[in-house]
Amino acid sequence: MKATTMNKPLLAGVFALSALLACQQEPAAPKRNPRVAEPSELAATMRTMTADMEALKAKAQAGTLTLADVESLRAAHEPIKTASPTKPEEIKESFPGFAEAYLSNLDALYDALKTQADREAQIEAFNAVIATCESCHQQHCPGPLDRIRGIKVAE
Ligand code: HEC
Repeated sequence: MKATTMNKPLLAGVFALSALLACQQEPAAPKRNPRVAEPSELAATMRTMTADMEALKAKAQAGTLTLADVESLRAAHEPIKTASPTKPEEIKESFPGFAEAYLSNLDALYDALKTQADREAQIEAFNAVIATCESCHQQHCPGPLDRIRGIKVAE
């Protein structure tokens, strides 16, 4: 009796841990096992998104983002809506809404650059994009959250 009630939290912990690890693979990490599966379409898109946003952080911080910077990654990040994930069963109903919010925040960043491109406005719009990464990850894939938070520009 007692053993079964105690097993539940333990099992939940094990599952949470494995989900965390699965989502923690870093693109730059050396592969210990060469037979490790190829990343899913969605994971590959996420790696591109991470690299793109990390590359733009310094420009956002300096207030020197250009329309071209955002334009080129908008198309590259569009597959977030349709790319197939590693574990479809873990994708929640909230996913499409977060994906749309992410892309519309990229559009808002573009608009901010177009209209009022001062440094403060750039940082605010850039951080709003990263906040959307964060929101979706809180529900779907907590592993990379620290890395994602690190892309935010300190205000
Ligand atoms: C709409 C939800 C959503 C948004 C928005 C989102 N992600 Fe993800 N992300 C996921 C899911 C789900 C996975 C797991 C993908 C898989 O394993 O197929 C993932 C995986 C990742 C990974 C791990 C990739 C790997 O190597 O396995 C990183 C890093 C990542 N995201 C970073 C980001 C960054 C940075 C942003 C914003 C620029 C972002 N994500 C926006 C849902 C999201």
